[in-house]
Amino acid sequence: MLLTKKQEFELITAIKGRGEIPLKFQYLGEGSKNWDKIAKYRLKTGGITAIEFNLLRKKIKLFLDPYSNIKKINVIDLGCGNGIASYPVLEELQRRKIKFKYIPIDISKELLNMAVKNVKAKFGNVECKAFQLDFESGNFSDVIYELKEGDSVNLLLFLGSTLGNFSDRNRILTNFRDSMSSDDYLIIGVELTNLYKIHKILPYYRGKLTEDFLYFIPEKIGIKRKDTIFDVGWNESKKQIEARMILRKDIEVKIGSEKFILEKGEQILLGISVKFTEETLTKLLSDVGFRTELLTTSEDRGYILSMVQPTRYSI
Ligand SMILES: C[S@@+](CC[C@H](N)C(=O)[O-])C[C@H]1O[C@@H](n2cnc3c(N)ncnc32)[C@H](O)[C@@H]1O
Repeated sequence: MLLTKKQEFELITAIKGRGEIPLKFQYLGEGSKNWDKIAKYRLKTGGITAIEFNLLRKKIKLFLDPYSNIKKINVIDLGCGNGIASYPVLEELQRRKIKFKYIPIDISKELLNMAVKNVKAKFGNVECKAFQLDFESGNFSDVIYELKEGDSVNLLLFLGSTLGNFSDRNRILTNFRDSMSSDDYLIIGVELTNLYKIHKILPYYRGKLTEDFLYFIPEKIGIKRKDTIFDVGWNESKKQIEARMILRKDIEVKIGSEKFILEKGEQILLGISVKFTEETLTKLLSDVGFRTELLTTSEDRGYILSMVQPTRYSI
């Protein structure tokens, strides 16, 4: 079973109510392999995965400064994907001989398994503990709190510009903040807006790999790719890339035991990727109650990594 009953209802409501297939479902089941291909392609060809990876590798010493006297760290990889994005952090911990546990948290069981397998293969038999949950369902303070034992500390990662894929970014960040203690840190990586570069970014959202990834759920529920037009564009007012499909004919959709018709000409949103500026990211983080400890951008100002901590008292 790909979707739980609750997820089936969420999918039906999203399609009927908002004309949207939530991106998070595309990572489930066999969809995880489609994502793995995209992440590896972006790493190999200088896409955002590579830019973030190199920036993190270059700046990791600074990010680990607050941990200079720490002996044990839980590296909590939020939305872990295939786990590879966290390697620069794990490599530096290993170099410093700091003991770490790798804790991937993700909606996709398959990606959790993949991340654990990859990390174990790369870093020896490091201790891993995976948690499957949906960031949109509330905080997970129980999971994070339980990890702390003795003198260990938590470092959370939210990499791969995943924040930009959520329409309600405040909600996700609030759920993270409410899951953290005031001495935990979170490193977030997002792509910045660079209007001159939109034409360079867009090709990463077009092409076979992206289509295979975004049509996983549509094809599962009865929408054939050939019966749609795939469209990717830049929404200037929302500063986001939008991928959608436009139906060429009436199509019957089946989700669980529910069937309904989508009409010719209907547009279904398949994914968004919001691009930030230093200011919009810092404001968003501060609005939900994080203070920024450290902020660094790639040389071309196309990518930003921000290290934040929950503010103890909000006024
Ligand atoms: C864009 S990928 C990034 C993966 C990885 N961090 C990287 O940089 O390569 C987003 C990841 O977040 C997970 N994810 C997306 N929405 C989620 C949600 N609502 N709750 C939990 N995990 C989610 C996906 O399954 C996927 O692993």
